[in-house]
Amino acid sequence: MTCKIITYAIFLTFGYASAVTYQPPNSLCFPKNFFFGVATAAYQIEGAWNASGKGESIWDRYTHARPDRIFDHHNGDVTADSYHLFEEDVRMLVELGVQHYRFSISWPRILPNGLSNEINEDGIRYYMALIDELKRNDILPIVTMYHWDLPQALQDLGGWTNPIIAEYFLDYARVLFDKFGGKVRTWITINEPLSFCHGGYGGLDAPGAESSGFEDYLCGHNVLRAHGMVYQLFRDKYMDSIDYVGITLDFSWLEPATTSNADQMAAETARQFYFGWFAHPIFSKTGDYPPIMRKRIDAISKLQHFPRSRLPYFTREEIMLIHGSADFLGLNHYTTYLITKNRGNISSTPSFKADMGGIVSQKKEWPKSNSTWLKVVPWGFRKSLNWIRLAYDNPKVMVTENGMSLEKGLKDSRRINYLDGYLKALLMAVTKDNCRVYGYTYWSLMDNFEWTRGFSERFGLYEVDYVSPNKTRIARSSARYFTQLAQTRCIPTWNYTV
Ligand code: NOJ
Repeated sequence: MTCKIITYAIFLTFGYASAVTYQPPNSLCFPKNFFFGVATAAYQIEGAWNASGKGESIWDRYTHARPDRIFDHHNGDVTADSYHLFEEDVRMLVELGVQHYRFSISWPRILPNGLSNEINEDGIRYYMALIDELKRNDILPIVTMYHWDLPQALQDLGGWTNPIIAEYFLDYARVLFDKFGGKVRTWITINEPLSFCHGGYGGLDAPGAESSGFEDYLCGHNVLRAHGMVYQLFRDKYMDSIDYVGITLDFSWLEPATTSNADQMAAETARQFYFGWFAHPIFSKTGDYPPIMRKRIDAISKLQHFPRSRLPYFTREEIMLIHGSADFLGLNHYTTYLITKNRGNISSTPSFKADMGGIVSQKKEWPKSNSTWLKVVPWGFRKSLNWIRLAYDNPKVMVTENGMSLEKGLKDSRRINYLDGYLKALLMAVTKDNCRVYGYTYWSLMDNFEWTRGFSERFGLYEVDYVSPNKTRIARSSARYFTQLAQTRCIPTWNYTV
């Protein structure tokens, strides 16, 4: 094998390391300083929903008031009980040998009513203890400020549809920076705005607003404003104690269903709606929504006799604030869909899907997971990364989530197979295509509460026994695979019979 030594300059510019050398193209190894880690989110693992001064979140309210909306009628009241068992979680992270742990802070655990006039010191103590335990074990904390568990008190004011939320989010971020800055040097403001705006305000996730084509756009607008304001706060006041602030966006690859021009265009439009909606304002040169999204929603709103577009407009100041407001793009990628142009008439009822104008499907023969939406299509990962590279001038990307759900069981060779395929696609994107990806995060460290799917879909490297009193965690085969990956930075050659 010829070993061409390539200097990996991105790590230099990102400041994580000095020059990194590595040997493409035949090796299965990532650059030496590539980060491997795992992720979780507060509501999905912590439990202790009303313990020690925590306020109610929209997911507490929703799962309690509408258990019928949750597949198995469960909730996150206890889940993996990480509020009490975080030391056990860190022990697992040590066992995995990961470089980083991505977790989220519960806004209502810190500010029970959402507002910064009342800080819950027990909440601060909990996260401080977790962060200290990580640091003692040389694991880098990467912290998400908002992973969908909005304080119910703020939802009572309209939640993400009320423009004031941006100020409240800024106040919350200031508390986090003050309390944890210095110890936590990499922050993610918001996780998957597409999911919670489209799913929560346009659909059946909490708070279940079901107002697609309206509230989802208002939510998205305020998310972008809030994110921009927090980024500016970081640049103005916290550059000494914090290194990087980014945002995590989800991007499933959207492939044209046929080679026809119409489907090619529909797929590109869909990418702009699903991903460009949030990525374009931050990572393109314009600071604004994708032009095709603007054009379609303005035109369709008019046809529907609305006096103004259902997609709000940014002010000049907001555009300047949002443009370039991230040091890295956190990418969640799981699967691929096909897009066919929708040739039907525009309906009089507003909806995101009608505005987007594509019909979404998946190929029957794509291998399944235990989630209806998640099919195993590794090549879509490489395509997504390259699309980002070309669309936004090759930004720095951290893969903040990727993973597969299965049923209960410790021998998860299908998960290892998923990892093998997706990691090889990632390696190609990094080594052959020069995508500036510097880390990979598996979702999830352990099984957890999968939102409206309850406990029916398990993504963990560790299985959680929810009926045992101490929520026993047991390593799956994939945990052993991941240990090898994290410790060698090379994709393991694995005996799939284990
Ligand atoms: C993305 C979300 O961020 C996470 O909360 C969820 O559990 C995974 N996808 C799997 O669906």
